[in-house]
Amino acid sequence: MRDAAETALPELLLGWYDRHARVLPWRVPPGSARRADPYRVWLSEVMLQQTTVAAVKDYFARFTARWPDVAALAAAEDAEVMAAWAGLGYYARARNLLKCARVVSAEHGGVFPDTVEGLRALPGIGPYTAAAIAAIAFDRPETVVDGNVERVMSRLNAIETPLPAAKPLLVAAADALTPQARPGDYAQAAMDLGATICTPKSPACGICPWRDPCAARAAGIAADLPRKSPKKAKPVRQGLVYLARRTDGAFLLETRPESGLLGGMLGWPTTDWTEAVPPDAPPLAADWRDPGLEVRHTFTHFHLRLGLRLADVAADARPERGAFVDRHAFRPTALPTLMRKAIDLVTPWPGA
Ligand code: ADE
Repeated sequence: MRDAAETALPELLLGWYDRHARVLPWRVPPGSARRADPYRVWLSEVMLQQTTVAAVKDYFARFTARWPDVAALAAAEDAEVMAAWAGLGYYARARNLLKCARVVSAEHGGVFPDTVEGLRALPGIGPYTAAAIAAIAFDRPETVVDGNVERVMSRLNAIETPLPAAKPLLVAAADALTPQARPGDYAQAAMDLGATICTPKSPACGICPWRDPCAARAAGIAADLPRKSPKKAKPVRQGLVYLARRTDGAFLLETRPESGLLGGMLGWPTTDWTEAVPPDAPPLAADWRDPGLEVRHTFTHFHLRLGLRLADVAADARPERGAFVDRHAFRPTALPTLMRKAIDLVTPWPGA
């Protein structure tokens, strides 16, 4: 038991955060009288799910420059938001982001609810995001547990149960520490500790504010925690991707259906993605070539391999799906990474 020391743990971490908080564009400095803007906190938390701070920064800057508040985002065109999200992955997040902005705008007068319950009722806001917004934007004593905090808790308490079975134990451990004072700073401090000191491979225990109370450090097993159950191998799915270029340089693009992977995103037409190579399903009749190239991309639950098919088509070609878009009327950055990989494989266009 830590008993007397228990109260000191949050204070130790907050003292460290006062000196070492990362400067991030959605944050206010530690101990600030000003509170962080809930819109910016919400946007950053949605972007940071499954994505690193380094990858998020530029997207966050572009989003907030273009849509500085929730009303502006609510009024945006779906395609514009999906294009701005391209490359961040997990596109359901972007679709829910828009839904949520519209609900906050239309049903809450543009003001985010300030409780976990109110936040949970919004589209795309799960328990983690609700707790993070309630703590960071509204200074509510909610327990915020992301992957960083799981690692910190497993080490601080030397919890050897492997993930994911350990999750409830790690949440309970985090819950026991959440302070009433400065819970917003504390939540961010715990994440920063995991991101900068209590790192996965070689934790910098020597400079950690929790070095003395850390049970894993005392046992010499900090770098071995959290333990993880072996992952299942990901299955492979296969398909074909069709790149059609018109004589005037326009490309055939299609907006993918809302439901399913890459839903609502712009891309080259593809077949279904299935275990066995699916039958050919070209989006227009043409002389399709097989350049012997394959696009490889990994999603959360499977690896995808798409064989490339190329066609040069006449100016009057009529596609069965999608539409020709002038090469200068779309930016490759508006395409999801998988689709960018496909065009990168054939840039410059063969024979052009
Ligand atoms: N990861 C997720 N949310 C974060 C935050 N608010 N600060 C730092 N890292 C984070």
